[in-house]
Amino acid sequence: MLVARMKFVAALLALAAFVDSSLASAVPDADELSSSSSSSSTASVAAAATASASLFSALDVLNATVGGRLKKAVPFEAPCFSILEGKHVAVDTAACAAIQSNYTDPTFRVTHFGAYMLPQWETCQSSSTSEGCLLDNSNPTNPLAIDGVNCQLGNVPPYYIEVKSVTDVQAALAFSRLTGVRLSVKNKGHDYKGRSSGKDTLNLWVTNLRSMSHSASFRPEGCVGKTYDAITTGAGVFTQDVYEFADSVNRTIIAGYHQTIGFSGGYFLGGGHSVLSPVYGLAADRVVQVKVVTPDGVYRTANECQNKDLFFALRGGGGSAFGVVIESTHLVEPLFPIQAAVLRFAPSASTDLAAWYSLMVENSYQWANDGWGGHIVGPSLIHVTPLLSNEEAKASMQPAVDFVTAHNGTVTIEQLPSYLAFFTKYVTAAQAAVGPELELGTRLLPSKFFSTPEGRTQLTALINDTLSFASPYIVAGTPWLFNTSASPGGASAVTPAWRDAIWHLSVKWQFSFDDTLAERKEGYSTLEEHIQRFRDLTPGSGAYFNEGDVYEPDHETSYWGDNYPKLLAVKRKYDPHGLLDCWQCVGWKGESDDLYQCHIKL
Ligand SMILES: Cc1cc2nc3c(=O)[nH]c(=O)nc-3n(C[C@H](O)[C@H](O)[C@H](O)COP(=O)(O)OP(=O)(O)OC[C@H]3O[C@@H](n4cnc5c(N)ncnc54)[C@H](O)[C@@H]3O)c2cc1C
Ligand SMILES: *[C@@H]1O[C@H](CO)[C@@H](O)[C@H](O)[C@H]1NC(C)=O
Ligand SMILES: *[C@@H]1O[C@H](CO)[C@@H](O)[C@H](O)[C@H]1NC(C)=O
Ligand SMILES: *[C@@H]1O[C@H](CO)[C@@H](O)[C@H](O)[C@H]1NC(C)=O
Ligand SMILES: *[C@@H]1O[C@H](CO)[C@@H](O)[C@H](O)[C@H]1NC(C)=O
Ligand SMILES: *[C@@H]1O[C@H](CO)[C@@H](O)[C@H](O)[C@H]1NC(C)=O
Ligand SMILES: *[C@@H]1O[C@H](CO)[C@@H](O)[C@H](O)[C@H]1NC(C)=O
Repeated sequence: MLVARMKFVAALLALAAFVDSSLASAVPDADELSSSSSSSSTASVAAAATASASLFSALDVLNATVGGRLKKAVPFEAPCFSILEGKHVAVDTAACAAIQSNYTDPTFRVTHFGAYMLPQWETCQSSSTSEGCLLDNSNPTNPLAIDGVNCQLGNVPPYYIEVKSVTDVQAALAFSRLTGVRLSVKNKGHDYKGRSSGKDTLNLWVTNLRSMSHSASFRPEGCVGKTYDAITTGAGVFTQDVYEFADSVNRTIIAGYHQTIGFSGGYFLGGGHSVLSPVYGLAADRVVQVKVVTPDGVYRTANECQNKDLFFALRGGGGSAFGVVIESTHLVEPLFPIQAAVLRFAPSASTDLAAWYSLMVENSYQWANDGWGGHIVGPSLIHVTPLLSNEEAKASMQPAVDFVTAHNGTVTIEQLPSYLAFFTKYVTAAQAAVGPELELGTRLLPSKFFSTPEGRTQLTALINDTLSFASPYIVAGTPWLFNTSASPGGASAVTPAWRDAIWHLSVKWQFSFDDTLAERKEGYSTLEEHIQRFRDLTPGSGAYFNEGDVYEPDHETSYWGDNYPKLLAVKRKYDPHGLLDCWQCVGWKGESDDLYQCHIKL
């Protein structure tokens, strides 16, 4: 036992030496580490000495290795509670008041490691109690959520490294290999399936990697005679910041519909839709180069000229499966004026919503061909197109304008000077609240449900049936007009079902902070039944990895279609020891893995 312990400590000391030296780049085996420990540099000996003099703790060694940026997590809402992990503590009234009044503000949440945009993923949902520390999002001062409640870390990783460098990531991978401690990766915390949290994991928080640069003639490393107009972003940049940066250099970048989404992490890795996607493709279609630490510990550059298999996988294969992205480079477009259509009305008759959705189904094929992309939710539509003049935009939207006008709603169809002008006016200003414990079920709906009378009849009938449960949230953000031959490296790894889809449709379920385990299960199952009807309507289609049902059946086919076997081969090649894993990711170890102890097993 003692010998084993000594060997373990020796290996950890060597870890510090290994990472400090930065000479080798692959994750070592414990034996290699032990035998190389005599060649430690001075700095790492000092680090090791500190560690051995204090606790002989593996975490101390890791902390020294990553420059003291190993942090202990606390529940985001902890200042409000007088019981923390079973112990009595003092309430911090001022800090609690700030948390309560900003509870649903994404720009506030995103600055706290312990906060997630879908807060149920802060909790251990599988526990019979509500093991976590949630407030009531509909009334954050509700004492029922707070008084006498034991605030617990739940599914929040107990330790995280605030990543600043490649070697931080390499150290974490080596640490995981040596100790068996599992890893998770967090960026801005918008994941819908709990893939950026994880009880008992060591988390890599990449949020502060925020560099941005532009080159009108970016040459992917190792390529000859190929350049692109492109922007390079650190893994932790905000969508809002990258929009502003692109605009400042007179460019348009294609990105998501929420200002705090991480642009250069899970968003593009999983596909990444935008209201500009119908014309300009998915974010994954526009990637020029990715710099990534693969799970074997090597810092690699992937583009169309080197590590091509990895480049393919990183464009839609899904976040935190193929490595930890440090930076990525994306195609940009010139600035262009844009037409925005903003329509809404208040339904008065019980049949108004069904008639409205029916009209949406009738017109969406034409709108997709006119370059419109946007969102439809309940009695409202916000779409943009870069392809039409203002006059053409009005003509294209006329059926919807007539409907909304007849229902005394409001209509704006205006030309704005740039995409940023649109985003600022209609997205940033109307900042979508986060904080409700939402779950999604989604489906990509193929074009025949819009282009043929039979298809339209079937889809309209199903939506009409679904309305008593929920108003579907429609993302008209599929790469309908985009030709994948314009992608560096060719078609990306997302399911080919994206290419023939016109809508990415979702239905949602909302949990409450005090739901029992039975109620949580019931929520997941109910949602499952409703989205299953859309799956049954569209055999052979698929779903969006980042926004799919937590319990998506046959997820490999839904998210990647016939790309899956190729992706699995890439996963095995670069992650031979299975150091990175996440829920329904490529190469997923399955729900019984300890990593998913907080996911409910339905
Ligand atoms: C309010 C809201 C609006 C949204 N709008 C859109 C939209 O318009 N278009 C769209 O396509 N999607 C949208 N999404 C989904 C969103 O794109 C994904 O959830 C995305 O993965 C979130 O990235 P994040 O950094 O914020 O999340 P995180 O939860 O921090 O990370 C998401 C996943 O990516 C992994 N990851 C993060 N960074 C890295 C990295 N550097 N290297 C490797 N893996 C990494 C994580 O491990 C995790 O698996 C939205 C989500 C929300 C909550
Ligand atoms: C890591 O080291 C820093 C600097 O010494 C210290 O402030 C921090 O508390 C340490 N982290 C942990 C988890 O011990
Ligand atoms: C949070 O809410 C308070 C009001 O209680 C406000 O003054 C503050 O500016 C908000 N934002 C932050 C970052 O605390
Ligand atoms: C952007 O375009 C404007 C107007 O044409 C010009 O004045 C400005 O210098 C340009 N900025 C950059 C960074 O190219
Ligand atoms: C929706 O269904 C109701 C019956 O539930 C029916 O009366 C109505 O005509 C349907 N509307 C559409 C647009 O299909
Ligand atoms: C619209 O407003 C007019 C005038 O106020 C009213 O007569 C009509 O009933 C309204 N129509 C609807 C659909 O609300
Ligand atoms: C896509 O572009 C390629 C190359 O320019 C072209 O050969 C092909 O016909 C295009 N496909 C479509 C569907 O337009």
